[in-house]
Amino acid sequence: MRFEGKIALITGGASGIGLATAQRLAAEGARVAIGDINEDGARGVAGELDGLACRLDVSDTESVAQAVHAVLSEFGTIDVLVNNAGTDLFSFFVKTDPGLWDFLLGVNLRGVMAVTHAVLPGMQERASGAIVNVASEAGRVGSQGSAVYSAAKAGVIGFTKAIAREAARYRVRVNAVAPGPIETPLLNAAPKVYGELGERLKQGMVNATVMGRCGEPEEVAASIAFLASDDASYVTGQTLNVSGGLSMW
Ligand SMILES: NC(=O)c1ccc[n+]([C@@H]2O[C@H](COP(=O)([O-])OP(=O)(O)OC[C@H]3O[C@@H](n4cnc5c(N)ncnc54)[C@H](O)[C@@H]3O)[C@@H](O)[C@H]2O)c1
Repeated sequence: MRFEGKIALITGGASGIGLATAQRLAAEGARVAIGDINEDGARGVAGELDGLACRLDVSDTESVAQAVHAVLSEFGTIDVLVNNAGTDLFSFFVKTDPGLWDFLLGVNLRGVMAVTHAVLPGMQERASGAIVNVASEAGRVGSQGSAVYSAAKAGVIGFTKAIAREAARYRVRVNAVAPGPIETPLLNAAPKVYGELGERLKQGMVNATVMGRCGEPEEVAASIAFLASDDASYVTGQTLNVSGGLSMW
């Protein structure tokens, strides 16, 4: 029970990788708080795991402040933060506009910053804590139809390193995972929006793995749990690819 007595906040915990992470951390003893823009979904997961649900839009700093306040009021502390909330709207870059750039950067990059900004001071004060950011292989190798998303995720990887350096003296570790294609609603949005072209985009990602398959959310959750746990006590500033060998650096 690596998380006995620990409190974990998982953003975007109502679905996919966040849901699997909440289940995994709870199974290992954590009390979980599920923050999600999908409030009903968060409530369902929190009910199942005897946790706390809060409405959270990571792109809105007021919403972030309220959600973090709610978690601290209920549990008193946050030991583990999983910055998992994310979204993409597949579109070739030439067809996008600045409104879309702001939206995608707001959720995928600024959202990670906003929640970290709200949670990290408490961790530093207690000289204890672990943050795991969910980046993407898109941020390492670039993903067709996802230029802004790729840029945001590359930003998350850089942010992870910088915060790891700043927080180390307070005994707070900060790491990231970079998933490849994982069977979730987000991955399957491309085929939904673009039909055959989207299916080809998805198949292209699968073909880029050396394992020749999509990953399951539980496989990412296992790596997040490792990085969040004391098993990774000497690991900080790293980005762990969980991608069937899609990239190897
Ligand atoms: N599925 C993949 O192939 C894949 C690959 C690499 C990285 N990722 C990343 O994994 C993370 C989880 O994605 P997923 O695949 O599980 O997708 P998902 O769509 O199943 O889950 C995303 C969750 O985030 C929530 N969310 C979206 N916008 C939000 C906001 N503004 N504030 C709070 N919550 C918000 C959604 O409601 C949803 O519950 C994301 O950061 C995504 O970029 C996914």
